[in-house]
Amino acid sequence: MSYTLNDGLVVPEVGFGTYKLNGAMGVNTMVSALNAGYRLLDSAFNYENEGAVGAAIRQSGIPRADVLVSSKLPGRHHHYQEAIDTIQESLYRAGLDYFDLYLIHWPNPIEDHYVEAWQALIDAQKFGLVRSIGVSNFLPEHLERIIQTTGVTPSLNQIELHPYFNQAAQRDFDASHHILTQAWSPLGRASQMLQDQTLATLAMKYHTSIVQLILKWDMQHGVMPIPKASNPERQRANLTLDFTIIADDMLTIDGLTKADGRTHDQDPATYQEF
Ligand SMILES: NC(=O)c1ccc[n+]([C@@H]2O[C@H](COP(=O)([O-])OP(=O)(O)OC[C@H]3O[C@@H](n4cnc5c(N)ncnc54)[C@H](OP(=O)(O)O)[C@@H]3O)[C@@H](O)[C@H]2O)c1
Repeated sequence: MSYTLNDGLVVPEVGFGTYKLNGAMGVNTMVSALNAGYRLLDSAFNYENEGAVGAAIRQSGIPRADVLVSSKLPGRHHHYQEAIDTIQESLYRAGLDYFDLYLIHWPNPIEDHYVEAWQALIDAQKFGLVRSIGVSNFLPEHLERIIQTTGVTPSLNQIELHPYFNQAAQRDFDASHHILTQAWSPLGRASQMLQDQTLATLAMKYHTSIVQLILKWDMQHGVMPIPKASNPERQRANLTLDFTIIADDMLTIDGLTKADGRTHDQDPATYQEF
């Protein structure tokens, strides 16, 4: 199964998060993930592992065209020419000719240069550096502004999303604009949520784990999760999602959301990252 983005790019239902996967250990973990079947690796300039991502693809022996690579523009390089230079630098680091996806990592609305950054991504796509362009941590007001100013709608919005912060309103906004919602920290960074009693009871009912239940809940909401797992068994388990959650149980999981459910209180209206 897959999703087709609003610009035609076909992406898998589940991707692989690479935050904290650095150096040779990181490469080994990513090779193992590719062998387990993942075909989308989510990186960022700020993870300092674009080189490891490129190395993992080459070591895996999987043809470049069969793997999607995503990276992200850091907040300190939102000015137009810096953004273009950074995308090129990202490619040099990865040893790749193009990225499949490139996202603005955070809108940083207090600095307020994200419209200029978006224009740079639009041009990077025209130059052939990037196949598909999207954003991360964008609220409706940020999305409306870039769409109205440039006429180009992002293909994807990567946001914090898990049962304790389910982002129903943002998901609806994204869907109504044909923007795929991608879930970062889908497992809440392995927080207390993975011991939640309601999730444990439901996982038992479906003869699965809490983690798999959460990833399936994402999929049934039309959201692409990008879980990170270092352990090969976990990597495989996170792709084994051949069950269906009934509507009532989806609602029960939806009901676990909390207004203050973010893992690190990073509200894109005020939180900025450089
Ligand atoms: N755009 C943004 O601003 C942003 C922010 C944060 C993250 N991200 C992206 O989202 C990706 C995922 O988020 P994340 O890395 O923060 O956290 P996450 O995927 O929510 O959680 C990762 C944690 O869950 C554990 N885990 C994975 N599978 C498991 C399983 N089957 N059973 C038990 N535990 C399991 C992992 O353990 P082990 O690794 O020890 O196996 C790790 O400790 C990142 O890697 C990054 O690519 C983006």
